[in-house]
Amino acid sequence: MKIHRRGLLLGAAAALALPSRSEAAPRTLVARPSKLQIAPEGYPETDIWGFEGQAPGPLLRARQGARLQRRLVNELPVPTSVHWHGIRIDNAMDGVAGLTQAPVAPGETFDYAFDLPDAGTFWYHAHTNSYEQVARGLYGALIVEEADAPEIDREDIFVLDDWRLDHETAQISGDFGAWHDLSHAGRMGNILTTNGKFDLKRAARRNERLRLRLINAANARILALSLVGLEGWIMALDGMPLEHPVAAQGALRLAPAQRMDLIVDVTAADEETAHLAQMDDNGKWWSQVAWDITGSASSQRRPAPMPLPPNPRQAVPGVKGVRTVTLAMEGGAMGRLQAATYGGKRLAFRDLAERGQFWAFNGTVGRTDAPLAEAALGETLRIRIVNDTVFPHAMHLHGMHFREVMKDSDSLGPLRDTLLVQRGETREIAFVADNPGDWLFHCHMLAHAAAGMTTWIKVARS
Ligand code: C2O
Ligand code: CU
Repeated sequence: MKIHRRGLLLGAAAALALPSRSEAAPRTLVARPSKLQIAPEGYPETDIWGFEGQAPGPLLRARQGARLQRRLVNELPVPTSVHWHGIRIDNAMDGVAGLTQAPVAPGETFDYAFDLPDAGTFWYHAHTNSYEQVARGLYGALIVEEADAPEIDREDIFVLDDWRLDHETAQISGDFGAWHDLSHAGRMGNILTTNGKFDLKRAARRNERLRLRLINAANARILALSLVGLEGWIMALDGMPLEHPVAAQGALRLAPAQRMDLIVDVTAADEETAHLAQMDDNGKWWSQVAWDITGSASSQRRPAPMPLPPNPRQAVPGVKGVRTVTLAMEGGAMGRLQAATYGGKRLAFRDLAERGQFWAFNGTVGRTDAPLAEAALGETLRIRIVNDTVFPHAMHLHGMHFREVMKDSDSLGPLRDTLLVQRGETREIAFVADNPGDWLFHCHMLAHAAAGMTTWIKVARS
């Protein structure tokens, strides 16, 4: 594999350092405008919106079973709210403006407090006009530590984002909700950062063992990542440990909002460079993070790691014969959608387009008063997702992880909270509706969610 040094769309040199992040996270979480050097040196700083003025926002880190409390302080010019993506949370703390809480007006605050039942790699992000607010930088990593952590030499959290910047001013392109983004693959960017940096560098020694926590915070880009000079295992997906870690080989796909925990050993030799590489649309690989290797930590690799300790309530028992709800996705450019219901009215596709709406679930555009399904508390529910569009969609269920039901119905996939459904595919998921409340179920290509791909599931309180 040929690896290209970064030096792409905007120029050549490396970005300046981010302001350093404090380990002791603040009690408040201030959403505010700020500036960040995203583009390479020589370009101006970019105006962003960030938690504590950073993108990614402050690292929130706690032990499994702990309670997390943060006062959101909104210093933005617009209303906002915070969603704690992947946490099995109390519904009232889920942060979905208009469903679980009112949006927090400029100058106002909202107190979030919730337990962390699962260890893993999670994240938080704005959930009011997400397609704009996440694109402006309102997101951060939320790490919940296992009581029994695996033996490693070092951990790195990599939050990847795909920014759309103006080629001259390096400012975030203000075309949120552009029709092309809404109706095609979503808002794609032109500069891919890791932890806000265009060209992230690390150092390591041969045979060191690293834990890498990858978070895709991009609005729409499905990442294809690969390891060079690093070898190891996928340990967890969307925060949930795999029962059997799998070799991290070939292209590792990470859809928007998905996470992947890797444990890797440095196999590159002294004076070589290891990479986390990323494949562009033309199949060309670029270095996303580069490790300069000096010396050797030991003469050989360690034995394969044990699986991460399982989180509580992992099982999805008996999916055969349980109630199945169908979610038919239609619409978008080059799709078959002729007409759909929007705001209680039946509208032709072109009339929907005029309103910036392009996608339908089961013939209806956007979130409706009635949920997609109402589940009894503890009921196992299956959702059959039929992607009758020519674009991939990353479906995210709030509040509960699900497992994919494999084709033969006999096996279940790993626990996830976001499933990538390719064009034309039909995939099924199953989950135990054990978390009461109103839970959003939407495409995490955020422009798609804004343009119709949002519904919800109601889980009864008793
Ligand atoms: Cu990560 Cu409804 O979102
Ligand atoms: Cu989508």
